Amino acid sequence: MIQENNGVFRLDTPNTTYLFHITETGHLEHLYYGQTLNEIGDLEAYRVNTKLRMPTIVNTSDRFPRSYPALTLMETSSFGKGDLREVAFAGEYGENGNTVFDFVYDSYRIEKGCALPSPLPFARRNCSSTLIIQCLDEPTGIILELHYTVFDDCDVITRSCVVCNSGSETLVIRSVSSLQLDLIDTGWEALTLDGAWSRERQICRTPLHSGIFSIQSTAGISSAEHNPLLILNRNSGSYLFNLFWSGDHRESVEVTTYGTLRLLTGINPSTFSYRLKSGECFYTPEAMMAFSPCGEEYVTQTAHFFVRQQVLPEYWSEKERPILLNSWEGMGFDLSEEKIKKQALQAKKLGIELFVIDDGWFRHKQCAVGDLGDWVVAENKFPKGLKSVVSFLHEIGLMAGIWVEPESISLESDLYRTHPEYLVQCPGREPSPGRDQYLLDLTREDVVQVLYQKLENLISDNSFDYLKWDMNRYFSDDYSPDLWMPEFRYRWTIGLYELLRKIRRRFPTLLIEGCASGGGRFDLGMLSYVDQFWGSDNTDATDRLEIFLGTSLGYPQRCFGAHVSKIPNGITGRIYDYETAFAVNAFGAYGYELDVTALTDEEKQIFIDQITFYKQFRNLLQLGTLRRVRNDDTVIWTTENEDATVILALYLEKRTCVSQPKVRTLQVPSCRREVIYRVRTRKQWITAPFPCAMKNGAHLSEVFERIVPGVILCGNGMTLMPVHLGTDMNQDTAFLGDYGSRIFIVEAMGGT
Ligand code: DGJ
Repeated sequence: MIQENNGVFRLDTPNTTYLFHITETGHLEHLYYGQTLNEIGDLEAYRVNTKLRMPTIVNTSDRFPRSYPALTLMETSSFGKGDLREVAFAGEYGENGNTVFDFVYDSYRIEKGCALPSPLPFARRNCSSTLIIQCLDEPTGIILELHYTVFDDCDVITRSCVVCNSGSETLVIRSVSSLQLDLIDTGWEALTLDGAWSRERQICRTPLHSGIFSIQSTAGISSAEHNPLLILNRNSGSYLFNLFWSGDHRESVEVTTYGTLRLLTGINPSTFSYRLKSGECFYTPEAMMAFSPCGEEYVTQTAHFFVRQQVLPEYWSEKERPILLNSWEGMGFDLSEEKIKKQALQAKKLGIELFVIDDGWFRHKQCAVGDLGDWVVAENKFPKGLKSVVSFLHEIGLMAGIWVEPESISLESDLYRTHPEYLVQCPGREPSPGRDQYLLDLTREDVVQVLYQKLENLISDNSFDYLKWDMNRYFSDDYSPDLWMPEFRYRWTIGLYELLRKIRRRFPTLLIEGCASGGGRFDLGMLSYVDQFWGSDNTDATDRLEIFLGTSLGYPQRCFGAHVSKIPNGITGRIYDYETAFAVNAFGAYGYELDVTALTDEEKQIFIDQITFYKQFRNLLQLGTLRRVRNDDTVIWTTENEDATVILALYLEKRTCVSQPKVRTLQVPSCRREVIYRVRTRKQWITAPFPCAMKNGAHLSEVFERIVPGVILCGNGMTLMPVHLGTDMNQDTAFLGDYGSRIFIVEAMGGT
């Protein structure tokens, strides 16, 4: 709900209130963002502006001698009128490059579920209204519109800006943040998701002190190094921010020496500028923010709900995703119709539902990366074309998927030979390869159209049900002949979105999985078009624990591509067991990525049992409400159905404590106190060599079933069997081993 009363704007989501007002100087002063306010009370209680005479810092104007932009909490900010912090807007206007801007309130309007005319992705506007505040910098005629979208059923507010040049000269935008939030500082911690290829989205916690903390991408895509998600924590609650942008982004948090904090998020100004001519408008990406007084875990659930309801493409958003077998880790480039048929037949027997033909299916002439850009099938591998393989897959009851990397081009391709101008390269410089390949110039409409046509043909001619959209190199050599180069990355990202939008419109039911050398572009921009995103090339289950943990802070598990791969793991060489690999990956969009024709009978049985279980509980595992209950030596994740009558719990011990048995407990906070539950383990296979050789070979784990009051489960937890310590092995011990795990099924039986 959005209300305006005497220049005070009040935005309410079900459990939060956001408050700001127009000051005596005509600026927008931020007052409050937090738990729902019943009464607003006296506005002076929220304001940090001092009434003292302050030396050195400047006043807004002579008429307002006690108003200090450097001290005020603002809704937006610009350079040149005394605000000492990093600002949301900076630019240069006209020939002499005027850098001073001062945006003053002009008017407002409220629109129901309004869709932006923006070329960028933004949240769907279901059950929402948008407050649009127009601010004006009078001397230049630059208009800054602040958009606030409030959702009726979700504790999220989104923000974006539109800059319109109603002046007569050109404005060069140097930076314009999507969202600014000014708060009062006391003991904040910033949580960010940092990493690199194969260790994406590791949780990093930084205590904030005086100065600027920032993360950014300069890779051209949102990157594996820094995800755009940022959480601000302190004991009174958590704020979560995220951005609908797949290009370079920057998030900064400035703690001032005056005891305030400013958060900015948006396009990274260090790789961006934009020339806005008279009469033109510029749209920033949309950003989201959420608050919970109960902390990180709860604000995460709000983010999940929001991504499900307002971000993910509608068709698959609430649907169960198929269990897939991807050819990459099992077959690499060594593909052929015959080999795929063998894999597919075995996959079908295991219960797999979708076969994905990954890289290696298209023509390779000389170059290792093949003729990227042509997307012509390799005739030596598929003499009857892809259609024949797809028909076979469909005949045996499997869905069919294909991998592409549309944004790249190889020097060996016919596309390059006929259109060298499509390759991004800077005149007079040798273009830099990345993974032996180059970028296509998506700022060009003709390139977008050519790519669309190639993808359209590939998908419709062969009747694919699934598409894996990969991207394997960062940016370099920014250049396009008809552009002003500081706009290159912005326009390139718009071109990408245009291509994705066209494909999505043409194939609304196609299941699309994004990928960028693993999870290098896992962001809300991409998730507006793709249904899920490959989590990481690192499929080591013990590393995946951490990657999933970080990712699940901002993104629901249904969009996290998670596969069981060969052990020892191909990247880390680590050995763990297939049941741990299953348990960790089952909390995601699940699949396998190994040579299924090389499995032993024992492994086949293990996979069949996993798949049977996964299908039985798929709805819960993919679409349930996820909670991360513990993450120390013990990991507990739970996922529950809507009324929490069925809950699955992953229990995993990173290191078995053999020297002293410790009390092991399972906590399930989503259980209701007044309800009694039946708790049982999923029967799984113990394959690790057994220490005291009482049992040899794979055998089923212990049987465990208990009736437990909810008050115990949601309190200190239910005690578990002790783990086997090499001294005794009977029906009351469990063999776990390092990174050993169990999945518990917790079902409500009735009231106490
Ligand atoms: C990188 C991806 O992350 C992998 O899953 C695989 O698709 C390869 N590219 C293929 O080149």
